[in-house]
Amino acid sequence: MQQACKFWDRMAKRYAKRAITDEDAYQKKLQYTRQYLEPHMDVLEFGCGTGSTTIIHAPYVKHMRAIDFSSKMIEIAQSKIDQTTDNSVDNITFEQSSIDDFSAPDQSLDVVLGLSILHLLENKEAVLSKIHNMLKPGGVFVSSTACLADTMKFLKLIVPIGKFFGFMPLVRFFTTAQLEASLVNAGFVIDFQWQPGKGKSVFIVAKKIS
Ligand SMILES: C[S@@+](CC[C@H](N)C(=O)[O-])C[C@H]1O[C@@H](n2cnc3c(N)ncnc32)[C@H](O)[C@@H]1O
Repeated sequence: MQQACKFWDRMAKRYAKRAITDEDAYQKKLQYTRQYLEPHMDVLEFGCGTGSTTIIHAPYVKHMRAIDFSSKMIEIAQSKIDQTTDNSVDNITFEQSSIDDFSAPDQSLDVVLGLSILHLLENKEAVLSKIHNMLKPGGVFVSSTACLADTMKFLKLIVPIGKFFGFMPLVRFFTTAQLEASLVNAGFVIDFQWQPGKGKSVFIVAKKIS
C-alpha cells in the first residue's frame, strides 16, 4: 500500500497537468452521473485524484466528501478550491485516506463515485462490500474502470517489472464480465452500463436495492 501511495504522490503534479484522453467520453460520463445526483444527496468519491470531477459534480449535491490516499493529490485538489475567490465551492471536503481504512456509517451515503480506481485496489471485493454497506437502499455506486483483461492481457507481463522499477502502480487484471460479477456478488444490481469503445474504460452505475 505504501509503495502504491508513493507512486501516486510522485505522479500527482504530472497527473494534474495531463489532458483528458477522450473528452467526449468524459463529458458523457459526467452527464450520465448527473442523472443520479440530487440537491439533498451526500456523495463520497474515493481515489478522487486532483479533484476535478469532484468539483464539477459538487454544485448538484448537498455534500461531496472526496478521499485519496495520496497527500500530494489531495494538496492539489484542495488548492483548486482555495484558489476560488468567491467561496462558491463550499460543500466539498477533501481528505487524505485510503478507501481500505475509510469508514462511514452504514446506509449513510446516497452516491459513491469510484473513477479509474477499481483496477488499482489490492482487494476490490472488500471495497465493493464496504461501499454497499455505506450506501442507503436505492443508493448508487458509479464507476469507470479499465478492464485490462478484456484486451490488454500483455500488460500482465510488463506491470510487475514496471512496479519493481517504480514506474507503474499496483494494477489488477479482470474482464468486464468479472467486474459485473463482483458487483453482483457484493449485492448490487447493474442499473446502467456504457463503454465508449473497445478497450475503453467501462462505465457502470450499480444500484443497492436493499
Ligand atoms: C488513475 S487515478 C484516478 C483519479 C481520478 N479518480 C480520475 O478519474 O482522474 C487513481 C487515483 O486513486 C488513488 N488511489 C489508488 N489506490 C487508492 C486507495 N486504495 N485508496 C484511495 N485512493 C487510492 C491514487 O492516489 C490516484 O489519485
